Amino acid sequence: MGAGARLFTTPEKDTIPGLDFTSDVFSRSASPYMAPRERVAGSHTVPGDKSITHRALMFAALAPGESRVTGALTSLDARSTASVLRLLGTRISPVRPGSAVRVQGNRRFSPPPTVLHCGNSGTTTRLLLGLLAGHPFQATLTGDRSLRRRPMRRVTGALSRMGAVVDDGGRDGLPLRITGGSLNRLDWQMPVASAQIKSAMLLAGVAGEVEVVLHEPASTRDHTERLLRHFGFEVASRDGILRFAPTGRLAPFELAVPGDPSSAAFLVAAALLAGSGEIRVTGVGLNPSRTGFLEILRQMGAEVTIDGMHTPFGEPVGDLVARASSLGPADVPPEAIPGIIDEIPILACLAARASGTSRFRSVEELRVKESDRLALMVSNLRAVGVTAAAEGDDLVVVGTDAPLVGRVITSGDHRIAMAFAVLGKGGGSQIDIDDPGCAAVSFPGFAAALEGLAG
Ligand code: S3P
Repeated sequence: MGAGARLFTTPEKDTIPGLDFTSDVFSRSASPYMAPRERVAGSHTVPGDKSITHRALMFAALAPGESRVTGALTSLDARSTASVLRLLGTRISPVRPGSAVRVQGNRRFSPPPTVLHCGNSGTTTRLLLGLLAGHPFQATLTGDRSLRRRPMRRVTGALSRMGAVVDDGGRDGLPLRITGGSLNRLDWQMPVASAQIKSAMLLAGVAGEVEVVLHEPASTRDHTERLLRHFGFEVASRDGILRFAPTGRLAPFELAVPGDPSSAAFLVAAALLAGSGEIRVTGVGLNPSRTGFLEILRQMGAEVTIDGMHTPFGEPVGDLVARASSLGPADVPPEAIPGIIDEIPILACLAARASGTSRFRSVEELRVKESDRLALMVSNLRAVGVTAAAEGDDLVVVGTDAPLVGRVITSGDHRIAMAFAVLGKGGGSQIDIDDPGCAAVSFPGFAAALEGLAG
């Protein structure tokens, strides 16, 4: 995405029936209700990157010998990946805070004795499907209620073309059974821009030792490609075409997982909404395919900078410094969406505290995340007193500085819970969250981290 003059145009007219965006709903300085917001300070950390942790564990599981992953995410999602890999014959030490995860990998998985339960994790499921496609045995995958409603044919369709046999009982989702084996090469137009779909195909290429050519609608996070290159696989991306050749070999490795930028986004947002002060979030992964939200924040007028960037393990890492800021509206174009897909809930909550009306264009993928995030963001913003709407596939949010009061329904979605916890801080707001504990899916210790920002 370029520096994007188009990113922040003021919507020309109110296109939401029943909403009057021309009235001055926002007047930050004039509000008689504004309770003082807290001051933030200090240096903070966030748990390890979720995407990199899943990939590190999976690569290590197929690298014969012992690999060591430090700084791994220890959340429920990461444990889901560890537990299914154990059922496939991998020895993995407990995934717990403060200790390295040791993985005793084998060149091939062994047939699982039971169903593979992927918990809440779409990344576990979809990447694993790719790996299983190249293994000559049957495996059944399932997940929790949220995961069972998420589409899987976007992955299994192409794996079937490669030669895997998939039985999903006639519906697009889990549970499903996959029987892998020897695979054909794939040359495929991807239906949506998705790092999970892309990675599933690349991992099928690794497990099946076949070439994979993907035509991508837009580029997405590239952690899988970076790891594959490290192991000598050819992965080249040009003009929207990604070409993989099975030239490499997985070998044991040591990897230090950086902090998750998607988790850091919640702390950064809390600092931006604070009354005063500045925080530093240290050791955050700053892969350009993950930092689209910083560009949106800057366009909104947020004071957020990167400091001390270096690239220790093939992934850029640095500190984020964020300062209490006055925010303006965002108009986010469709092409920016894949790069901020996990940050839209928190960006939408920031938009609720920005001056004017923000629009996130073509966010239909939000409907198939851990919840229908488009519907839930709208209903929850409204429930706490913010004017918001889904207009077609766009999310529209009108900023306000009134105290926000109401109850948020998370549907167990970690990012909804964290976004509204941030929004509920200060300004006289009282936001009650039905299941704050679901934050542990990606950010164990989130509540304490948020409280710890006070300076
Ligand atoms: C992920 C890719 C994204 C993202 C998810 C993690 C990954 O999903 O939302 O949290 O690690 O590849 P999609 O590929 O469905 O966009």
